[in-house]
Amino acid sequence: MAFPKARPRRLRASAALRALVRESHLVPEQLVLPLFVSESASAPEPIAGMDGIARLPLRDAVAVAGQAREAGVGGVILFGIPARKDVRGSGAWAADGIVQRALEAIRSAHPELALITDVCLCEYTDHGHCGLLDRSGAVDNDATIELLAQVAVSHAQAGADIVAPSDMMDGRVGAIRSALEQTGHTQTAILAYSVKFASAFYGPFRDAAGSAPAFGDRRAYQMDPANGREALREALLDVEEGADILMVKPALAYGDLIRLLHEHTSLPVAAYNVSGEYAMVKAAAAAGALQERAAVLELLTSLRRAGASTLITYHALDAARWLSE
Ligand code: PBG
Repeated sequence: MAFPKARPRRLRASAALRALVRESHLVPEQLVLPLFVSESASAPEPIAGMDGIARLPLRDAVAVAGQAREAGVGGVILFGIPARKDVRGSGAWAADGIVQRALEAIRSAHPELALITDVCLCEYTDHGHCGLLDRSGAVDNDATIELLAQVAVSHAQAGADIVAPSDMMDGRVGAIRSALEQTGHTQTAILAYSVKFASAFYGPFRDAAGSAPAFGDRRAYQMDPANGREALREALLDVEEGADILMVKPALAYGDLIRLLHEHTSLPVAAYNVSGEYAMVKAAAAAGALQERAAVLELLTSLRRAGASTLITYHALDAARWLSE
C-alpha cells in the first residue's frame, strides 16, 4: 500500500492520536540520579560545566536523594570523593568510607530508593587510574579485580541494592559475583558497565572527582569508540560472568549499541548519559541555542526507543519533575 492510501500523517493529527500510537515512554521511576558525595566538603561545591550538580557533603546528599524520591526518581548512583587518596585506592573499601556511610544514611532516610554504587578505584587512587599499577605503570588486571571484589562486598555490606563496576578490567563481573556469593550477598545485583568507551565526554566528571589520570589515558582498558562488534563481545562475557543489567556508556552517540545489546541478550540494558553530554546540553541552553526541557526529554526518550530501560542521567531530577507536571 502506497500513497495516497498510505498517509502516515493521519495518525499525527491530534495529541490523542499521537498518544495512542506512541512507542516509547519516559517515566521518572526508570531514571537514576548520580550523586557525588564528598568526605571533605562542608557545603555543596558546584562542578564546572555542570550547572545544577555539585559535590555534596553527606547531609546534602541525603537531602538531594530525598528530593529525587519526592519527584519519583527510581534510584541514585553514588560516587565517593574521599578526603585522602593513596596508591592502592584503599578508601574505596573502607568500612567507614564515604560511600559506605552515604549508603547507610540514604537507606535509613529514604528506604524506597534503589541504591546503586559505582565500583572503581579511580576516585581513590592518587594516580587516577582505575586499578593497581604494575612496575611499568600499566594497570594490573588480575590484581585489580580482587580489590574491586572487596569494594563491591563492602558496598553490599553497607546496603547497596546494586553494585556497578566501571573499571573495564577483564573478569571483574565474575570476580565480584563470586565474592558476593561467598559473603552471603546473594541478592545484591550487578549492573555491569559492559560497554564503556574511552570517551571525550567524561571531562566534567573527572574534574568533579579529581580522577583524571596523572599520566597516560584509559585507552588500554576502556573501549575504542569505533568498535561495535567488540561491544557485543564484552556484553556477552558479562552475561556469562553473572551480570544482572548491562550498561552502555556514554549514551547519546551510542544508540546503535543499546539496540544491539537489547536484541542480542535478554538482560535489561541501562544507558549512562554522562557528564560531558549533560554539559553540552546545559551550555547550548544557556546560549539560547535550544530549549532545555524539550531537548532533554527528546534525548532521554531516544534512549528508551533504542532499548534502554534504566537511564542514568544528571537531568534525572529536572526530567522527573517535568514529567509529573
Ligand atoms: C569511574 C567512572 C567515570 C565515570 C563513571 N565512572 C570516569 C572515567 O571512567 O573516567 C564517568 C561518568 C560521567 O562522565 O558522567 N571509572
